[in-house]
Amino acid sequence: MVQLKGNDRSAFVASMFGRISRRYDLLNTLMTVGLHYMWRKKAAKLATAHVSGDILDVASGTGDFAFGLLKHPNVNIVVGLDFSPEMLDLAIRKSVRLGLDGRFIPVIGDAHILPFPNERFASATVGFGVRNFSDLPKALADIVRVTRRGGKVTVLEIVKPQGRLASVLFLRYFRWVTPKLGRIFAGDYEAYKYLPESVQNFMSATQLSEILEGAGLRNLVVDTKGMGSIAIISGKRP
Ligand SMILES: C[S@@+](CC[C@H](N)C(=O)[O-])C[C@H]1O[C@@H](n2cnc3c(N)ncnc32)[C@H](O)[C@@H]1O
Repeated sequence: MVQLKGNDRSAFVASMFGRISRRYDLLNTLMTVGLHYMWRKKAAKLATAHVSGDILDVASGTGDFAFGLLKHPNVNIVVGLDFSPEMLDLAIRKSVRLGLDGRFIPVIGDAHILPFPNERFASATVGFGVRNFSDLPKALADIVRVTRRGGKVTVLEIVKPQGRLASVLFLRYFRWVTPKLGRIFAGDYEAYKYLPESVQNFMSATQLSEILEGAGLRNLVVDTKGMGSIAIISGKRP
């Protein structure tokens, strides 16, 4: 399934997230022993430093990254875009529970063709989304287009660890543990088999940084967590 391209890949990814939406948050916590909250917090801090105004959170899913951004007082609203209505529906309910529904604006859309004018946002973020895009350079070009000059684009993603030992341990853990957790807690072995496959076919933090530079971002700040398996990369649109 990770070999799928273009619209077929997008349809596969959207339907998979639709199926697992109700168990997505729980599985994140189980798979990362709760560390995903810390990684998003760190990424949100980087994305909002020296930025003020509206933020676009692409691939917003159930909204946790968006809600982390909204904790920063210099952030006005966060537009959370996702192509899975089921994931966004959960984000909307969560925003109401958190009292953030006036500042979280859900939009159904595709990261490759953003329905916003040039330079609409002060900053843009993507949390655990870029790995699923069918055409990463195209999506990033559009994300940069809607980010204002001097604004930032911040990406948080699972990457291939660069050290040999870390890489072997991490991919083994992922390949053995996640599909089993997926079967037990989400009743969906296939969806959680996709996760390690998508990481195995993805890139390192260095390669991802090169792609972000290729999209026109400069002054990149790169941080890695989880033995190099998590990258937080932020760059400025000149
Ligand atoms: C792993 S979840 C991440 C959700 C959230 N950002 C977080 O930090 O938990 C990936 C999300 O990306 C969305 N997605 C993947 N490809 C997309 C695309 N091309 N356009 C819009 N959303 C996309 C999926 O529907 C899913 O909700």
